[in-house]
Amino acid sequence: MTGPIGVFDSGLGGLTVAGEILRRLPNESIIYFADTAHVPYGERPLEEIKGFAVGITRFLIDRGVKSLVMACNMSSAVALESAREAFPDLPILGVIEPGSQAAVSACGGVIGILATTGTVESGAYTRTIRRLAPEAEVYEQACPAFVPLVEAGLTDTEEAEEAAREYLEPLLLARARTIVLGCTHYPFLRGVISRVAPQACIVDPAEETVNELQKVLLERGLRAGPGERKEHVFFASGDTEGFARLGSRFLRQEISSVERAEWGMDLFAAQTAASRER
Ligand code: DGL
Repeated sequence: MTGPIGVFDSGLGGLTVAGEILRRLPNESIIYFADTAHVPYGERPLEEIKGFAVGITRFLIDRGVKSLVMACNMSSAVALESAREAFPDLPILGVIEPGSQAAVSACGGVIGILATTGTVESGAYTRTIRRLAPEAEVYEQACPAFVPLVEAGLTDTEEAEEAAREYLEPLLLARARTIVLGCTHYPFLRGVISRVAPQACIVDPAEETVNELQKVLLERGLRAGPGERKEHVFFASGDTEGFARLGSRFLRQEISSVERAEWGMDLFAAQTAASRER
């Protein structure tokens, strides 16, 4: 038994990455953590997000994960290095590096990033893309209404399309040809986004993230074999019922039970222990 893959996000968004893992690596088990006590992360201070990410990482390590995917752009932008330093033995992947890789090798032209306010403020996408392609022209657009719409299950609505029009307008005016879904919730809005920008080449970082994950598991001899017992476990720090209901719809697979993880008990303790270790 090689252990499960840990995947976390503020809420439903990371299921876009979890779904890709389940499709592409069908022998693997996952433990998914939704920080529904704090969703949306988008407008929170970056230091706070870093604390959540390190606490959740420790929580998942305590449950035996063999590797971890931060299926959250905000966490990847601000906490990836701290988590790797705090837990050097665990392979930890973010979504921004793979998303940037995918963006520069997609369709060329100007690159537009749709992301949460915090991810845009971090500047992580522009920095990473320019490192990979110094000449790249990159524009980032914050989309504060998107995550609440997805968390409410309102993905294919007039309201969502209205928001998409508002957020895409500046990117289309800048002649963006490639549009990166720089928040893991946004692939659930792909329908409305492509209706508003039908010519755009839309990049979902999940695909390249899973390519990376596959490579890392192979290199470290951590791939699960076909005979291994498979079990997916879901935790949420706040609402568990809403997560199970909408999560089942979005993942297109029944999430029959979601365990409650208490911040202030296991999670805050984990976070303090992690910061003591550093
Ligand atoms: N899905 C997360 C991301 O990729 C966070 C969204 C949020 O809670 O604001 O950034």
